[in-house]
Amino acid sequence: MSANGKGDSTRVVAAGRRKDWTQGIVNTPVWRASTILYDSVADLRASGATDTHHRLFYGRRGTPTQWSLADALTELEPGAEATFLYPSGVAAIAAALLSVVSPGDELLLVDSAYDPSRGIANTLLKRMGITTRFYDPLIGAGIADLIGPATRAILMESPGSLTFEVQDVPAICAAAKARGVVTLLDNTWATPLFFPAIEHGVDLSILACTKYVVGHSDVMLGSVTAAPGHFGKLRDTSFQLGQVASPDDSWLGSRGLRTMAVRLRQHQASALRIAEWLAGRPEVSRVLHPALPSCPGHALFARDFKGASGLFSFVLNGGDDAARAALIDGLDHFGIGFSWGGFESLALPVDPARHRTATRRADAGPIIRLQIGLEDTDDLIADLDAGLARFRAHVS
Ligand SMILES: Cc1ncc(COP(=O)(O)O)c(C=O)c1O
Repeated sequence: MSANGKGDSTRVVAAGRRKDWTQGIVNTPVWRASTILYDSVADLRASGATDTHHRLFYGRRGTPTQWSLADALTELEPGAEATFLYPSGVAAIAAALLSVVSPGDELLLVDSAYDPSRGIANTLLKRMGITTRFYDPLIGAGIADLIGPATRAILMESPGSLTFEVQDVPAICAAAKARGVVTLLDNTWATPLFFPAIEHGVDLSILACTKYVVGHSDVMLGSVTAAPGHFGKLRDTSFQLGQVASPDDSWLGSRGLRTMAVRLRQHQASALRIAEWLAGRPEVSRVLHPALPSCPGHALFARDFKGASGLFSFVLNGGDDAARAALIDGLDHFGIGFSWGGFESLALPVDPARHRTATRRADAGPIIRLQIGLEDTDDLIADLDAGLARFRAHVS
């Protein structure tokens, strides 16, 4: 149950479906536009006000199709003010950061962040005179010691990319608030259904909607949902950057959202079963799934999260890159490719040590990241079982 007393499935089905936008159609249809026509010169002049949210002005400012999805995502985040949509998750991260940092500022960025988030900090922000310090994902309230006079923002991602460390988001947000620092969270893995970010103290909650909102591996989309007081700057910066998610992609996002709760429940059940099965295998030294005690930060997951989605990693017990490739290459039901959150399973060789600068990884063996899709779990387990046999044959 959510804070407003309605269950997750009810909320994702109903959210954002205003009658004046749907006109009786179940899901808000695609309203495509660049030009909006006005009745008169006076009408045109009157429309020039800055607040064009929910009011047709010009295609770049959106139509009911984008507003419907944006409002739905706001409704899913208790305590949120409003949401802005972007043409990808990375575009959302970049716009959110640019809306809070200025030359001379410092950004604190979690060491387990999605690599392109590090890229934004290390190149674009650096060029603008913004410095970045990377911090240990398990730092918790100790973040207070890193906050200096120039610190303006903290970008968290919990659990972290590739290695899934769970952060103490409430403690980090409390330390940040006490010092006037803005907090941003990449909440793509949990979505607001499993981790209501703004309720936990986050100022800007970011989703790569490409993953679970869209859910079908065929659309790029991102969003930032703002806590009260943070939307105005986010919207103005995003308008200045010319950011606009297309009506067609936003419509596909809305269509995906309607089934997100039921899909997430299945991703959760299947991924947990496979993670537990892998944990019992001698070829596996550790499973990095936040719901298992073997994952760093598991106690925080148990305290703060309402569920787990379908993405996790496991560490192989010895072996090398070729043995890992032998396991992955022969899989029947797991595609080899980037991204996740769709209906199909994926397997990816990952090398987190390449991206870390503030922390060292404890595990020695090669790592595989799995996105568990909606196939029958027995088929996925049989496929992985055969993969582990190929790995064994390669190692011995
Ligand atoms: C955790 C995380 N955040 C953000 C993104 C970026 O999303 P997009 O691919 O839509 O730009 C990804 C993509 O893989 C991701 O894994």
